[in-house]
Amino acid sequence: MDLHGKVGLITGGGSGVGLAIARRCASHGMAVGLLGRRAAPLEAAVAAIEAEGGVAMALPANVAVWDEVEAAVARLTGRFGRLDLLVNNAGVSGRGTVEETSVATWRETIEINLIGAFHCAKAAIPHLRAAGGGWIIGISSGAAKRGYAGLSAYAASKAGLALFDESLALELEADRIKVSTIILGTVMTDFGTRSREQKQASRAAGEKFMEPDDVADAVDYLLHQSACAWTQELNLWPR
Ligand SMILES: NC(=O)c1ccc[n+]([C@@H]2O[C@H](COP(=O)([O-])OP(=O)(O)OC[C@H]3O[C@@H](n4cnc5c(N)ncnc54)[C@H](OP(=O)(O)O)[C@@H]3O)[C@@H](O)[C@H]2O)c1
Repeated sequence: MDLHGKVGLITGGGSGVGLAIARRCASHGMAVGLLGRRAAPLEAAVAAIEAEGGVAMALPANVAVWDEVEAAVARLTGRFGRLDLLVNNAGVSGRGTVEETSVATWRETIEINLIGAFHCAKAAIPHLRAAGGGWIIGISSGAAKRGYAGLSAYAASKAGLALFDESLALELEADRIKVSTIILGTVMTDFGTRSREQKQASRAAGEKFMEPDDVADAVDYLLHQSACAWTQELNLWPR
């Protein structure tokens, strides 16, 4: 699969897993749009990708707001003329027990992690179809597979994302748009309640973590898979 000249949209592309995926796509010659709420990390990520010889565009937007997603996709396709890949990676952890979590926080977690993915897919699909096919990849979590105390909104959103992706895959098969879900174990990023520094200390004490590049490897695998094969779900655990 020659990815040169193709265009990708990576939500949460300004940090952690999303940035690693964006860098990898850019290294294959793809132009990448990086979507997130904060402009500063997006601009820094664009500068880093450009310094590596890649092409990238910052798209400040909130995935939970349809108008912002629609405008961001229009900006990206307006500049590069096409869209081949959407990675629904933006997410928040929404940590807290049901009793201690406010209605607003529970709702926001679902709106970002699940409805945000719907918004991005809805805006991207006409462009993916016009490109003759492509990929939508959802970044889910081990919390989609079993419940975790204190992560009810997160687990529900990530389980919802996996079933959303599976349904979308069936809707888009005839358009040669492959929809896949990557289920992730713990990755060395600032996600959740622990910083990377705290996670490094836990790693030194024996806890296992993947690196963001391990997730980029999984995306690479999906992008280079034969047209005859579809990976519905890829489970990735630390070793
Ligand atoms: N790290 C792990 O252990 C782990 C494990 C399993 C799954 N995951 C999943 O991996 C994905 C990436 O997480 P990460 O580890 O790379 O953490 P991260 O660095 O905190 O990345 C999350 C990204 O999502 C963006 N984001 C959050 N809310 C958004 C919104 N409303 N609109 C647009 N962008 C938004 C953030 O940017 P802004 O704040 O600027 O918007 C940030 O760039 C998440 O979906 C997470 O659930 C992570």
